[in-house]
Amino acid sequence: MRTLARLWPYVRPVRARWAGAAVIAVVASCLGLVFPLVLKWIVDGPVTDRDPSGVWLGAGVLLALGIVEALLFGLRRWLVARPLAGVEAGMRADLYRHLQRMPVAFHDKWASGQLLSRATTDLMVVRMFLAFPLTFLIVNTVTIVAGLAVLVVQDWALGLVLLAPAVPLMAVCYRFEHGYAEASRRAQDQVGDLTTVVEESVLGIRIIKGFGRHRSHARAFRELSQTVRGTELTKARLLAGILVVITLLPELALGTALVLGTVRVADGDLSAGTLVAFLSTALALRWPIESIGFLLAMSQEAATATRRYFEVMDEKEEDPRVHEQRTRVDAEGGGGSGLRFEGVEFRYPDAAPGSVPTLARIDLHIRSGETLALVGATGSGKTTLTALVPRLYDVTAGRITLDGRDVTAMPREELRTLVSVAFEEPTLFSATVAANVLMGAPDATDEDVERALGVAQADFVRRLPEGPDTEVGEQGLSLSGGQRQRLALARTVVGGPRFLVLDDPLSALDVHTEAAVEAALRRVLADSTALVVAHRPSTVLLADRVALLSQGRITAVGTHQELLRTSAEYRHLMSEDDDGHDDDHDAAEAGKAAHA
Ligand SMILES: Nc1ncnc2c1ncn2[C@@H]1O[C@H](COP(=O)(O)OP(=O)(O)O)[C@@H](O)[C@H]1O
Ligand SMILES: [Mg+2]
Repeated sequence: MRTLARLWPYVRPVRARWAGAAVIAVVASCLGLVFPLVLKWIVDGPVTDRDPSGVWLGAGVLLALGIVEALLFGLRRWLVARPLAGVEAGMRADLYRHLQRMPVAFHDKWASGQLLSRATTDLMVVRMFLAFPLTFLIVNTVTIVAGLAVLVVQDWALGLVLLAPAVPLMAVCYRFEHGYAEASRRAQDQVGDLTTVVEESVLGIRIIKGFGRHRSHARAFRELSQTVRGTELTKARLLAGILVVITLLPELALGTALVLGTVRVADGDLSAGTLVAFLSTALALRWPIESIGFLLAMSQEAATATRRYFEVMDEKEEDPRVHEQRTRVDAEGGGGSGLRFEGVEFRYPDAAPGSVPTLARIDLHIRSGETLALVGATGSGKTTLTALVPRLYDVTAGRITLDGRDVTAMPREELRTLVSVAFEEPTLFSATVAANVLMGAPDATDEDVERALGVAQADFVRRLPEGPDTEVGEQGLSLSGGQRQRLALARTVVGGPRFLVLDDPLSALDVHTEAAVEAALRRVLADSTALVVAHRPSTVLLADRVALLSQGRITAVGTHQELLRTSAEYRHLMSEDDDGHDDDHDAAEAGKAAHA
């Protein structure tokens, strides 16, 4: 109940329509209870008096009642369908907006399939709950209470016989709720896991095929889906159990009442019409009572779905506030121009407490207009360091300043306009080439896009069927790795950002393209302050200075020539014979050796 109450803010706007529909359903359902009274009148009146026209009249009234009941139920459906679809859409939009605002650390932690299943299946369950079980739990309760009242009024002794199963039924329902809640939670989580597997297999289809893993993947999928099936069967067993009790007990009570009633009619204590009315009222209550099992099950599923929805919604978003305290420190001095790391330490949120931080004691100053290359073995923390500048993660100690302003003291929007990032993994969206580039600066003109594509040496775009207006597929899979990387680079430079952070943006380019991109990049770098992760000597040469990152520490800073002279690890990373990139493993080993 408490969980479902959290849906109120979403239901609030449609409460009038929903309540109207519920009232209509109650009226329609209670109309069903009038039938037995008409029957009673027919039996005790026209039938006893042998009056055919009276029977016809009674039949006509019954038909009219039936039509009105059907119309009312139709009206109810029509009233709620549209607003409830709106509730579902609203909740889904909120979830999506929330996911966009969650910090990267949240997405590191949550499996995408879990998010996907919450945004689809769970929300659908919630909508169905609002449309059906919620209304009918109310409608059926009212109908059952009204029906029992009618029964007791007609004949209190027989009425009490029918009331007798109520207490054991309630106890059974209570126990069922608990068992079913647990099973439905398990089932919905397992569906989330299943979704994750499907999603990963679709994204990783090349790897699965390339390594011939489709059989083992299919087997793993089958096992997981067997688990889901098992849980669903547990649910079905629980439901079957309660349905047996819910159907059987009232049926037994009805049988007893029938025997007792017949005896009393034979004794002349009871009119035949009353017995007919009594039994048909009891039969009219069969569906409301029997459906309670299903309704409780569906409500329980909706409660689970709601809980899963709010588990995501309750996670804290990126803190949009600006840290004013830090701003004041800046006003007092310190900082200076350029990009500065001051005593930066960083630990991933999921790291074990007390473990060695991923980055520690990072002090770097990239002067305004300067380009600093960041070199280090695989796993030394280069990507992590670059992610701190646009605040994809926040430093755990120390600070990062842009022209003297702490990045945490800036509104994120401003920070992300100021800093432009190119990631190791060039992700493209299913949109046109131009739209993908424009993500870097939505206000950029066509000329800016042209220029950015020029810088990134993406002249292949001109040869695409529709030039920059060509749609590139999901993740740009129809392009080669190098082509994707060049588009991602164009996206990074299109807005002419003051600060550039490039995480090895040239890794997938062949030597000739790389040389051409570097020549163009040199011009961009001249106007901005840049931090460039580099693997090859040719990229390093774009930079004014080089910093060597070794196991999360900056171990040397200087020009390429200086570091070649003074650092064995740097010499090794830069040695031409193993290119320093394709053989990252060796480099990492050497890094450890040098560190020791
Ligand atoms: N999202 C993450 N959560 C936890 N640890 C991470 C995450 N990303 C990277 N790491 C760890 O941080 C270290 C540095 O990784 P990374 O910065 O990617 O290195 P590099 O880019 O130099 O190869 C590695 O030991 C890696 O396992
Ligand atoms: Mg990296």
